[in-house]
Amino acid sequence: MSEKTATLFKTAFENEVYQGLTDYPKHLSSKYFYDVKGDALFQDIMNMPEYYLTDAEYEIFNAQKTAIAELFSSDYLPFDLVELGAGDGKKTKVLLSHFDKKGIDFQYVPIDISQNALDLLHDALQRELPNLNVKPVQGTYFEALAQVAQQQKNRKVILFLGSNIGNLLHDQAITFLKNVQDLLEEDDLFFVGFDQKKNPQTILDAYNDATGITAAFNKNILTRINSELGGNFNLDAFFHWEVYNPESGTAKSYLVSTTQQSVSIEQLELKIDFDPWETIHTEISQKYDDRTVHWLAEESGLQIVTQFTDAQKQYKNYVFKKA
Ligand code: AVJ
Repeated sequence: MSEKTATLFKTAFENEVYQGLTDYPKHLSSKYFYDVKGDALFQDIMNMPEYYLTDAEYEIFNAQKTAIAELFSSDYLPFDLVELGAGDGKKTKVLLSHFDKKGIDFQYVPIDISQNALDLLHDALQRELPNLNVKPVQGTYFEALAQVAQQQKNRKVILFLGSNIGNLLHDQAITFLKNVQDLLEEDDLFFVGFDQKKNPQTILDAYNDATGITAAFNKNILTRINSELGGNFNLDAFFHWEVYNPESGTAKSYLVSTTQQSVSIEQLELKIDFDPWETIHTEISQKYDDRTVHWLAEESGLQIVTQFTDAQKQYKNYVFKKA
């Protein structure tokens, strides 16, 4: 019945909010954390000392840019460096400026759903690396990637950084990896960031900072429902809760209702009741070990070329090619 109702909605956001909040247990998708405010909160997260992921990947790029450059340009032929979900490109700039300095012949193709993010990145790169050849493509990962694969003749190196893959359950990750695999040619490379299993406390601290930035980020989805769909969520009546299962490597975020309450969402003509301590599951941030990455690669028709890690082995970048 809810599925019939859902077809009446105009946007995926409306549809998914309706589905998620009428389901039991309730859930919402982390992809809706990101609007102008959510992007800014995620920037704040990346700058927190507890959020080690960004620093670790930055360290890998800085320490191993020579080896990475050699790997990407081993045949000296021009290539396209395609980044899925480029964002502000802070880490990628380490590679871009190194490749630029070495006179490596490549074009940078950032793909992002947000035209605004692409414009900001393009402007920044024109200022900081004026010689760089940049060709932003706006769109969803696969539409944009398929378009790039069709139009460009050059070899592709595809970047998927930040452990963004961790927002996907293993089944979804395999589907994602297979979709990329499909678009790879024999000499193309696929470079992916995987956050590693580690001391569970380190992970909990990264996703449950004392200053409450992560909580605000998590609650931004309720703010968006309020402002975009006419909701009346009281943000103070929910708190952010993080759990980490060290066996599965899955970190999960919840918003927990502290009280019995009803929330209405005008645009969905929906009233939702919450029991005290009822949850909304909002995000998974999967952590990996070598066996799991090998298994994902095998399932997706990818072959592991090599891997890079930071001094503390908190984080790994794997390089794949078509098997
Ligand atoms: C952008 C999906 C990699 O899961 O670590 C950060 C998002 N959520 N803190 C992650 C996030 C809470 C982040 N990713």
